[in-house]
Amino acid sequence: MSETAKLTLDGKEYELPIIESSVGDKGIDISGLRAETGYITADSGYGNTGSCQSKITFIDGEKGILRYRGYPIEEIAKNSSFIEAAYLVIFGKLCTQEERDDFAKLLEQNAALPQPMLKHFDGYGSDGQPMAILSAMVNSLTAYDPSVMHPKDESDVTYAAANLMSSVRTIAAASYKASIGEPIMPPRYDMKYVENFLHMMFSKPYHEYVPEPEVAVALNMFLALHADHEQNCSTSTVRMVASSQANMYASCAAGITALWGPLHGGANVAVVQMLQEIQEEGLDPEKFMDLVKDKKSGRKLMGFGHRVYKNFDPRAKILKGACFDMLEKLNVSDPLLDVALKLEEVALKDDYFVERKLYPNVDFYSGIILRAIGIPLDMFTVMFAIGRMPGWIANWKEVHDDPKARIYRPRQIYTGEVERHWVPRSERS
Ligand code: SDX
Repeated sequence: MSETAKLTLDGKEYELPIIESSVGDKGIDISGLRAETGYITADSGYGNTGSCQSKITFIDGEKGILRYRGYPIEEIAKNSSFIEAAYLVIFGKLCTQEERDDFAKLLEQNAALPQPMLKHFDGYGSDGQPMAILSAMVNSLTAYDPSVMHPKDESDVTYAAANLMSSVRTIAAASYKASIGEPIMPPRYDMKYVENFLHMMFSKPYHEYVPEPEVAVALNMFLALHADHEQNCSTSTVRMVASSQANMYASCAAGITALWGPLHGGANVAVVQMLQEIQEEGLDPEKFMDLVKDKKSGRKLMGFGHRVYKNFDPRAKILKGACFDMLEKLNVSDPLLDVALKLEEVALKDDYFVERKLYPNVDFYSGIILRAIGIPLDMFTVMFAIGRMPGWIANWKEVHDDPKARIYRPRQIYTGEVERHWVPRSERS
């Protein structure tokens, strides 16, 4: 007899099945709870709720473990390019050379945006928010190739995935060029994914930007580290939209919007703004921490804390090491790294953070890498989105491929007025 959970409600006992995992959290199956008991569950922020079963990414928050399709993130960061990591996340396996070449060819074929789309950038002006532009343009892509909305088979899905991954990179570079009033640089067909992005970001018609090898290596690793992360806010949003059978582009555009918030992907911008404030105003890090611990201040130590990690975020550890490597190789220094190191040192010794198990997350050091590459601050969350695109696509695909998939439609605990009746305005107070 498989394990069950026992629940006693209003004097009656119920047995709820257990859903086994291959590793990590098992789940109590409450899919019949309301029909059997008349009750629903309540779990604000979904901290204890498994919204789905997934085979893509595994996190053990207590041990600081992160694996893509079973492969430890440390091995992926050390050995895989972003495209190899993306292929693993989307298709569930490390690609052979032939598979890699075929996918790279699709990325190359889809590197340029449809010519009429370039006109969109004329309308955004220099203050256009890059995340707003990205989300809008991803949805707009389907206007130029409606076939990607209705993939008929696996090869259609692979084409749409490559088109979306390649386009999102080109859109990001084009929106940057448009925002600084420079000509949009077309992609080159002799460059790999990351090198092409750097070319489109920093080359000019009269001057070719040639990235230092270290820069391309660092950006590949940055993007690979962001490729997927279980059911975070933006990925859950992608699955929510995908569950209505909306197309991959609409679902991922929704993911971009959810990522924008400062508690999620927008944190990498907020971290740098926090470090700049401390550095430029000469604030004492210890005094800043007192502010953070004073709830009335409303300040958070951005880049710290995580819903799942109650230990170091393994990505933060890798990115911290990469900061030192990159700054040394490029022979540059960044005063913000010193501020970040000091804040981490203070936090790791302070009961407020230790008791709440608040450690650096992926966003705490990532901005130092992007600054060293020359990515502007308002593009930081866009970089996160480019990195997370494979994870969003993989989760969209998992919903799309599931014959038993149902539309996501949570219940609620209603706490409003019970019943009252309409009165004419003359009788209202
Ligand atoms: C990402 O989910 C993912 O996987 C996301 C992500 C991914 O790859 O997709 O990993 C990417 O979004 C990383 C997180 C980036 N956000 C930030 O760095 C923003 C700062 N962090 C916090 O806002 C917060 O830690 C969250 C949002 C990340 C997590 O919030 P939770 O799980 O809702 O935690 P909580 O707010 O309930 O905090 C528990 C306690 C509270 O204090 P008490 O009420 O118990 O006294 O810890 C405190 C919080 O006030 N706390 C912080 C804090 N984070 C939590 N106090 C100061 N600074 C912080 N950063």
